[in-house]
Amino acid sequence: MKKKALNGLPTHVAIIMDGNGRWASRRALPRFLGHRQGVKALKKVVRYASKRGISALTVYAFSTENWTRPKEEVDFLLDLMQKTFVAEIEELHREGVRIQLAGDRASLNEEILKIWHGAEEITAQNQGLTLNVAFNYGGRQEILHVVQTLAKQVAQGEIALDAISEQTIANLLYTQPTPDPDLIIRTGGEMRLSNFLLWQAAYSEFYVTDVLWPDFDEDDFERALQDYAGRERRFGQVLAKEQ
Ligand code: FPP
Repeated sequence: MKKKALNGLPTHVAIIMDGNGRWASRRALPRFLGHRQGVKALKKVVRYASKRGISALTVYAFSTENWTRPKEEVDFLLDLMQKTFVAEIEELHREGVRIQLAGDRASLNEEILKIWHGAEEITAQNQGLTLNVAFNYGGRQEILHVVQTLAKQVAQGEIALDAISEQTIANLLYTQPTPDPDLIIRTGGEMRLSNFLLWQAAYSEFYVTDVLWPDFDEDDFERALQDYAGRERRFGQVLAKEQ
């Protein structure tokens, strides 16, 4: 009988940072204070991921559906992200973090794009943690974008229909060149993907905690990493103990 092959630490962790609103409501505070506290949690998690030698972290910061939230909340979130970048970029750069926007750039305005481009350019050569920020991100929209891009390439004779493969699709995803996430963490207790990394999540391990995002700290993150480390991944195959 083969030995059970456990995972070790994940290379790429993706996080659905849910529960900011509930964190605030439970304290009779306005929702925006939950988002502000959420940024503090994100800072801790980014530093801890670097410390643990994780290669890539993808965080769900703003979905394509989030634009339908009340205007004040959307404006607050956009402003919060902008201010966070301004305040944190130097330190993140010093720590070797490489920032990448994972989302639909085509529908973003110039002002927002400028901020993202700035953060990407400054940190482009860094060799530490890759931080993919899923902003204006939707999994179905991402797949649609890939399909449209490939259809256009076929129509223009740039690529043969038969040459389309899983790899050509993967190459066009917003998270490129980061490989698929090994582990997806969701805070706030809901058991769903919410249109996050639909293609990339095919064989990801899923970890849900009731902890609300603003309360998520290094110990919670370590618990998720250890839970992952103790699992056996199968990728659809029969492994070790059944043989
Ligand atoms: C979900 O909580 C959280 C969000 C929609 C926003 C998450 C964004 C941040 C933590 C800030 C990111 C900042 C940068 C710089 C990337 P919710 O409001 O849906 O909570 P609820 O489910 O309790 O209502």
